[in-house]
Amino acid sequence: MIKVDISNVWGDLSLPDLLAAEKEVFDAHLTLSEGNGKGSDFLGWYQLPVKEETDEIRRIRAAAERIRNNSDVFIVIGIGGSYLGPRAAIELLQGCNHNIGKGKGNPQVFFAGNTLSTRAWNELTRLLEGKDFSIAIISKSGTTTEPAIATRALRWLLERKYGTEGAKKRTYAITDPENGALRQMATEEGWESFVIPPDVGGRYSVLTAVGLLPMAVAGIDPMEVMQGAYEAKQAYDVRSFENPVWLYAATRNLLYRRGKAIELFESFEPSFKMMGGWWQQLFGESEGKDGKGIFPVSVEFTPDLHSLGQMIQQGERNIFETMIRFDPPAQTLTIGSDYKNLDGLNYLSGKTLDFVDEQAFQGTLAAHVDGNVPVITMDMGALNAKTMGEMFYFFELACGVSAYMLGVNPFDQPGVEFYKRNMFRLLGKPGYEA
Ligand code: PA5
Repeated sequence: MIKVDISNVWGDLSLPDLLAAEKEVFDAHLTLSEGNGKGSDFLGWYQLPVKEETDEIRRIRAAAERIRNNSDVFIVIGIGGSYLGPRAAIELLQGCNHNIGKGKGNPQVFFAGNTLSTRAWNELTRLLEGKDFSIAIISKSGTTTEPAIATRALRWLLERKYGTEGAKKRTYAITDPENGALRQMATEEGWESFVIPPDVGGRYSVLTAVGLLPMAVAGIDPMEVMQGAYEAKQAYDVRSFENPVWLYAATRNLLYRRGKAIELFESFEPSFKMMGGWWQQLFGESEGKDGKGIFPVSVEFTPDLHSLGQMIQQGERNIFETMIRFDPPAQTLTIGSDYKNLDGLNYLSGKTLDFVDEQAFQGTLAAHVDGNVPVITMDMGALNAKTMGEMFYFFELACGVSAYMLGVNPFDQPGVEFYKRNMFRLLGKPGYEA
């Protein structure tokens, strides 16, 4: 079970404050579990974790095996909730440089359709030269501009390389089971397709084919991820402050009410960076509405201690931190000794890198608490597929409970449409002239 420690927030909160919020958290959790709150027609994610392999997961495994055998490169097209989860998962378990040394049998996985940058597109086409590749198009609506443009262009490349029939066998769609442009394309073109259930919104979709197919292609077992999520679903149903989901959701809301409007989400693992991106979208899009919301910022330590550290230590006191850590890895570096000791590091010789990292964690925690920043710490346990599944479910549940405490609909994102309307008008899209 994930351990949430709030002993470093007591400068801003008291135990009576927390206990006074118990009924509020209880009501928020109940509203969510009974499906009678705002946006409750998008609660499908709540039931996604399964114990036994489903037909959909069997098909995902089979498709992944095919892609692994016939492709050097697998390109995942999607943006927002149709992109961040799978990228976060693969990077967390395999590192930011997971593509190095991979090819047919264990293909490289790249992401497209999450930007309008021509440079990024040129880079992608360069790396496809001479490579066998397959694509997965992920879009619930099927009309999102960035992935739609990438899809058109990548389909053209596929057809040129493999012919119409060959290209079809290398194209996979993940979308709504019935509606939308992508569903229609998949049906007309005869692509193998997977489902984003209609009651699962993008940012809550990582435990569907959206996350599971790219993970399986990268060699991550979907059922290990599911097992973690399933166990989390059972474990985090507890209705008391013994539930770490409650501790996290309540503490962040209470801190927000005391003027802590920014949450820094921090880890000392570079491979966690995209997980921070996934968390940032989950909480940002779910809570930032009706003039309310904690601004979520993902931060990587120790690098960001050399950029944001000053602001965190002595800037405006409107932030709190959530520090994530994992059990130490089995293998670590032991720092050697150097007889000249010009770098002055001999005091560390014989110590492990992990030991130094732990002291950095403790030192940072103590410094920030001294600087009057409340810090929530979370111990995730071992870093593996099961823990990751648990984390996905933990944060989705915490986000739902927290947004209900805030009084907003966690499952819509009306504000995202504003920039699109302007962009479509400027692009001359029919229907957006006014
Ligand atoms: O969380 C969300 O709902 C959004 O981030 C969507 O996932 C994102 O806008 C992409 O939408 P679609 O899957 O329809 O292309």
